[in-house]
Amino acid sequence: MTQTKQKQIILPKNFLLGAATSSHQIEGNNSKNDWWYWEQQGRVPKSGQACDSYNRYKEDFKITKEIGLNTFRLSIEWSRVEPEPGKFSVAEIKHYREVLQELKSQQLTSVVSLHHFTLPLWAANQGGFKSNKVIQSFAQFAKMMAQELGDLVDYWNTINEPGVYVNMGYIQGFWPPFSKNVLDAGIIYYLKFVKVHKLAYQAIKSVDPNAQVGLAKNNLYNAPFRPSSFLDRLIVKFSDWYGNYLFLDRIKNHLDFIGINYYFTHTLKLSLTRGVEHIKIGGLSSDMGWRTYPEGIYHVTRDLYQRYKLPILITENGIANAHDDMRQDFIWQHLLWLQKAMSEGVQIIGYLYWSLLDNYEWSDGYGPKFGLVEVNMQTFERKVRPSAQVYKKIQIKK
Ligand code: FCB
Repeated sequence: MTQTKQKQIILPKNFLLGAATSSHQIEGNNSKNDWWYWEQQGRVPKSGQACDSYNRYKEDFKITKEIGLNTFRLSIEWSRVEPEPGKFSVAEIKHYREVLQELKSQQLTSVVSLHHFTLPLWAANQGGFKSNKVIQSFAQFAKMMAQELGDLVDYWNTINEPGVYVNMGYIQGFWPPFSKNVLDAGIIYYLKFVKVHKLAYQAIKSVDPNAQVGLAKNNLYNAPFRPSSFLDRLIVKFSDWYGNYLFLDRIKNHLDFIGINYYFTHTLKLSLTRGVEHIKIGGLSSDMGWRTYPEGIYHVTRDLYQRYKLPILITENGIANAHDDMRQDFIWQHLLWLQKAMSEGVQIIGYLYWSLLDNYEWSDGYGPKFGLVEVNMQTFERKVRPSAQVYKKIQIKK
């Protein structure tokens, strides 16, 4: 493990240090969305009661505060709030108001996503985001949430990882709607999701022009395998443009900040005989085999800031590590690299670790353990992992 000699990290005033979650992964019994439907068909693992956070959110926020965090990211489950098209549930809106009020009473800053991979089953049956009708409904939902909850929301994310969603659901076909249609994937990513974001952005702004609205975009650090090779540098340029910037370029006038989920570095090689290759180079791997490369967060944020000059919020970064022997150093190293970026003028407003709790990791079910807090899936008892102590060594300027 690369232990740094630096004994303390001091972050700027008002820095958002927090943990990220999403509704379907922690709430439990989200029985009205597309994932739940496919879970019952046996296509993906069952989420069941998840972490039961629908009922235990007070405890979750208390732990968040106790371990030294000041921010919590969650998502509003659209299928709960609008279980049937056009019919909003007063009880569920009230529930989310209580959740957000609890965050406020614990003095936690709220980051709220409106779409984090799940769709109400009715919206999925109407064609998901391929359908303009569903996009209009989503904008309506965004407006309603801004009206009903906006006074309690500090930062909005319209959508989470449009690229991952399209890749997993429309290219690889591992996630609902299990499609493998590259044409659809392109249309949804470059046309429909752009519209989804813009309309939701405008809907929130029409209610509160001062609202802070962004999205959570997954960006990779692409590095050339052979830095001196023209071809390797060419494929890096292309991958940056295609994977990191193309979408953001299209919505950049509809962003108050950019949320970045950083997990991966790709070392790329391009040759005329073998095409594009991702070369796995040394370094530590998580329980999921994801290679960790903290320096990548420096490059990703620096390049992004140079291009857009917008504040950056790290909306996710985390590691599956059941033994908890890598997590503390993982967080430490990423924060050190963010500090370096900030010292060079990059405006970074916060860092949210994925995730507070061990939770439902989509098609990987309950295998991966990302949590700062271990959750007993029978009793739902929460146990803070030793790595969460890392936050006690981090100071935020007053
Ligand atoms: C991200 C997702 C999040 C979680 C982490 C591990 O791609 O946004 O829900 O699954 O990966």
